[in-house]
Amino acid sequence: MRIENAECRNSMNTVRLSADNQNDIACAADLLRRGELVAIPTETVYGLAANALDEAAVAKIFAAKGRPADNPLIVHVLSLEDAAPLVKEIPEQALLLAKTFWPGPLTIVLEKSGLIPDIVSAGLSTVALRSPSHPAARALLRACGLPLAAPSANKSGSPSPTRAQHVLDDLPGIAVLDGGACDVGLESTVITLTTPTPILLRPGGVSLEDLETVLGKINISGAITRELKPDEHAHSPGMKHRHYAPKAELTLVHGSPEDVTRFAKEQGADGVLDFGDNPEEQARRLFAKLREIDLLGLHKVFVRCPEQDGLGLAVYNRLLRAAEFREVHADVSE
Ligand code: TXA
Ligand code: MG
Repeated sequence: MRIENAECRNSMNTVRLSADNQNDIACAADLLRRGELVAIPTETVYGLAANALDEAAVAKIFAAKGRPADNPLIVHVLSLEDAAPLVKEIPEQALLLAKTFWPGPLTIVLEKSGLIPDIVSAGLSTVALRSPSHPAARALLRACGLPLAAPSANKSGSPSPTRAQHVLDDLPGIAVLDGGACDVGLESTVITLTTPTPILLRPGGVSLEDLETVLGKINISGAITRELKPDEHAHSPGMKHRHYAPKAELTLVHGSPEDVTRFAKEQGADGVLDFGDNPEEQARRLFAKLREIDLLGLHKVFVRCPEQDGLGLAVYNRLLRAAEFREVHADVSE
C-alpha cells in the first residue's frame, strides 16, 4: 500500500492513525476513497472498512480476513437518508427502528437496490445496514462521503477486536484508526425486516426486549441459542460459520460462582472465567478475555454462564459459540 501523506505513517512504518486527529481522519478517508482498507473504531467492535460500492475494495476485505465468500457484510451509513439509495424501499418498521436506535448498535436487513455489489451481500437479495454512533466512525463517514462495508476487523473465526492492538495482532500491516477501547464490546444486533414477521438474526448491543417495545412480536433465529443441524437453513450466513473460538477447549457452566470454581477444579481445568453479573461489563470484557486465553496458552477453560436476558443474551450467544456449544451444569458433575 502506498501512503502519500507521510504523517499517516508512524516510526514502525505501520499506519496507526488517531481517531482524535482531524488530519488522520482525512488520511483514513483518503485511503478509503482510493479503494484501500482501513480498520475503524465503532461503539461495538472495530470494523475492517472499504468503500461498499467498490467491488475490488470489498474483495480486499474478504482476502484480508480469510472470510468465506458466502458471508455478507454490514454496510455503514450516517443516516437512514443515506441508506435509502442502497435499498429497494424503507418499510415503516425500519423508520421506527432507525428513529429509536440509530445511530447505534442495531443492524437492519432490507431488500437491496442495484447499487450494492453482489460481493457485499454474498449473492443475497438483501443488505444489512447500520448507522454507528462512534464519533470517529461518523467523522470518517462524513469525510469520505461513502457507504462503508465493514465486518469485524478480526481474522475470520477469531474473537472480534475491541482495541486497535487486537486488529494489528490479527491483521498485521492494516491501517488502523485508533479510537481506544470499544464501548459496547460485542457486535451489533442484527434483525431482518424482509420476512412477514421480523427475525432476530444475532443478539447484540440493542436488546430483544427493547426491539419488541418498538416492533411487537419478533421471531428469534434458532441459531442464536443452539447449533444448527447440517441441513438446516441459516437465516444469517454468519451463524453457520465457526466463531470466536480460542485454541483452548472452552465449556460454559451453569451454577453459582462457588459451584463453577469447584466444578472446574474437579474437571482439571487450567482456567476459570467469571464475568460477574453485570451484562454491560460482561460484554465489554468478553472478547479481550477470549484473546487472553490463547496468549496465556491455556488448554481447558470453564466459563460461568451469564443470565440470558437483555444484553446477556448476546454475551451467552458469543460464549456458546466460543465453547462450540459445550454447556453443562455444575451440580450434575457426578
Ligand atoms: O457491530 C457490528 O455489527 C460490527 C461493526 C464493525 O459494525 N460488524 C460486524 O460485522 O459484526 P460481521 O461481518 O462480523 O457480522 C455481520 C453479521 C454476519 O453474521 C452476517 O452473516 C450477517 O451480519 N449479515 C450481513 N448481511 C446480511 C444479510 N444480508 N442477511 C442476513 N445476515 C446478514
Ligand atoms: Mg465478525
